[in-house]
Amino acid sequence: MAINRRSFLKGAAGAAAAVGFPHIWVKDLGQAYASGGEIKVGVLYSLTGTTAVVEKSLHNATLMAIEEINAQGGINGMKITPIVEDPASDPATFSDKARKLVMGDRCVSVFGSYTSASRKAVLPVFEKRRNLYWYPTLYEGRECSKNVIYTGATPNQQQKDFIPWLTENFGKRFFLVGSNYIYPKEENNVCKILLEQLGGEVVGEEYVPLGHSEFSSVLNKIRDTKPDVIFSTVVGDSVIALHRQYKSAGFDPEKMPMASLTTSEVEIAAMGGEYGAGHFTSAPYFMVHESPENEKFVESYKRLYGADSVTHFVSEPAYFQVHLFKQAVAKLAASDISPENIRDAVQGEELMAPQGLVGIDGENLHTNLWPKIAVCQSNGQFKVIKQSAERVRPLPYWAYQGQSCTASGLKGA
Ligand code: ACM
Repeated sequence: MAINRRSFLKGAAGAAAAVGFPHIWVKDLGQAYASGGEIKVGVLYSLTGTTAVVEKSLHNATLMAIEEINAQGGINGMKITPIVEDPASDPATFSDKARKLVMGDRCVSVFGSYTSASRKAVLPVFEKRRNLYWYPTLYEGRECSKNVIYTGATPNQQQKDFIPWLTENFGKRFFLVGSNYIYPKEENNVCKILLEQLGGEVVGEEYVPLGHSEFSSVLNKIRDTKPDVIFSTVVGDSVIALHRQYKSAGFDPEKMPMASLTTSEVEIAAMGGEYGAGHFTSAPYFMVHESPENEKFVESYKRLYGADSVTHFVSEPAYFQVHLFKQAVAKLAASDISPENIRDAVQGEELMAPQGLVGIDGENLHTNLWPKIAVCQSNGQFKVIKQSAERVRPLPYWAYQGQSCTASGLKGA
């Protein structure tokens, strides 16, 4: 007799109920996501390779949040069990490890990745398997997956105030330098749209391979074109090389600063404060932010990872997104815990994060955040110069007229 999947499932559930198994054991033809008093989650940040300089701190912040939740009794009495993988800064390895976490380990969610290249690499796994990926990194927008919770900044939360502020304070001639992959190219497109509206000009645009450490030819082009601002979307180890070589080449941030969306306290700690001093970053969180929640976050982080360790605008969402996960799961009965139910439960959810009250947008699964502009100082900390008076809604298609998340099919897809 032919048996289709639906009738088989129905039969399996009925048989399980008949022999007294709780309903949660027959969900989705396999084990329940919550079983044996634990909920498994994947932790997928690079501990090796060119973006480990930042991703290690995302791994640390994630484990710290899990420890905090477990120390307070877990989620409705269930412990979170982290399954840690090192995807080694390589998108193909990210994809393999994501498959292992989702299908092999049966994690109910995975927290992971820094680069958009690695997010794009894991996306098909989460969409095909209807699992849930929690992505803490600022990114280029133009994406709305119903299988991703985006807790980092979108371009409107970083560039909208930053580009006009830079043009008013330094001038309208920009040199764009980025690592060679999707994020810097897309983010630079947004920068170009804004500059055009402001009557500005791009005098140079250069991309270097990920892990690149030799910037003399880029710096020569910068010397020749004499921009007012160097707009950097370089990532990972290359950020350290670029800043050091900029200073060694005799450039002066007072005359020609670097303005970045990717340089945080963690790259500054790796390069030394004297190389970061005078350069600007726009982001929703800086370690110096004054709030009781940030005081606790920084103190706990230093206690666990050392007095010299730093928090920054990607490790903060890596931390608070685990607490948002907890809030969402806590709303569900154990038998209802599944990636899709967690996704539905987190929509509209709010939390007092170190940066302030953040919340997941009910339509696009991105996060409402508090944009700021800051200058780096020689002690490695940033000084905030300007901050949004209001929490800013994430608009992943903001720069592109006629495109939106709902148009891209997030709702009901
Ligand atoms: C990034 O690749 N989203 C920094």
